[in-house]
Amino acid sequence: MGKVILTGDRPTGPLHLGHYVGSLKARAEMQHTHTQYVMVADAQALTDHAKEPEKVRKNITEVCLDYLGVGLDPDVSTLFIQSQIPELFELTAYYLNLVTWNRLKHNPTVKQEIVQKGFGDAVPAGFMVYPVSQAADITAFKADLVPVGEDQRPMIEQTNEIVDKFNNTYHTGVLVRCEAHIPKMARLPGIDGQAKMSKTLGNAIYLSDDPDTIAKKVKKMYTDPGHIRVEDPGKIEGNMVFTYLDLFGTDIQKIEELKAHYQKGGLGDMVCKKYLIDVMLAFLEPIQIKRAEYTPEDAWDILQKGSEKARMRAAATLSEVKAAMGINYSILTTQNSG
Ligand code: TRP
Repeated sequence: MGKVILTGDRPTGPLHLGHYVGSLKARAEMQHTHTQYVMVADAQALTDHAKEPEKVRKNITEVCLDYLGVGLDPDVSTLFIQSQIPELFELTAYYLNLVTWNRLKHNPTVKQEIVQKGFGDAVPAGFMVYPVSQAADITAFKADLVPVGEDQRPMIEQTNEIVDKFNNTYHTGVLVRCEAHIPKMARLPGIDGQAKMSKTLGNAIYLSDDPDTIAKKVKKMYTDPGHIRVEDPGKIEGNMVFTYLDLFGTDIQKIEELKAHYQKGGLGDMVCKKYLIDVMLAFLEPIQIKRAEYTPEDAWDILQKGSEKARMRAAATLSEVKAAMGINYSILTTQNSG
């Protein structure tokens, strides 16, 4: 099957609609036409959650169940856990020598995250270098395509720099350049109207939220602050209720009618929100039914099988990398690779 996809998520919480719009939907579609590896990036999660390994562990299962819920088929996509592939860390160590400290400091995603996470002067070194570890994740599988959200674009650029640097330095073609696959609507705004849905901002609807929680969140949604009385004309631009209806609704005609009525005046926010609650429940129900078909034990089994398969692929690349560097000596009798 054509191109190879590698992508993943940090298991720091369950996945939300932003993940769905930005990446999960594309993964569920592309698994049928591509060779797809999907990674639960537990080691990357620890770069900013070193004190909470239990939380990361618990969310490995949650994230895997979310994958299964949105239709990732473990017989088609390889679902695996980053920390179970030691070859990734070995690749990271070699790549780190090809990246300057200055370059790492200027990665826009990392810079932004340092501010968001409030690290101040105490940025963990592991966090600073996570783009290099991410390059190892991608190149270990010789992925050509990486479906990610818009904020991950600098990671792909940095990966390609490492690929070029490696291939030039060691006069080889072992590593493969990759391309970001960013869907048109890559960034779903949060229910509060902020540019991005995120766990940290507390403005997310999770794929696993129960109906009451979904209803509560929709009722709190940011609409048009100028739409005070029902009779007032309302704005649909930047109004989250209509943004979400456009994305998750199926009855286009009804949505267009609501929009026209709202803009004209005479349509209250609550009526629109009640309809959006129905739309969201209808959208999430099949995902949640599918999710409930699996137990946490099933998730671990699936991840175990996937990790075994992923490890073989990564080990093959590591062998090639070490051969290209001329460091493919091995003196131990029991070994994993090289
Ligand atoms: N950085 C990604 C995130 O925060 C997770 C990730 C780790 C990833 N390694 C990757 C994504 C490799 C794509 C490719 O969600």
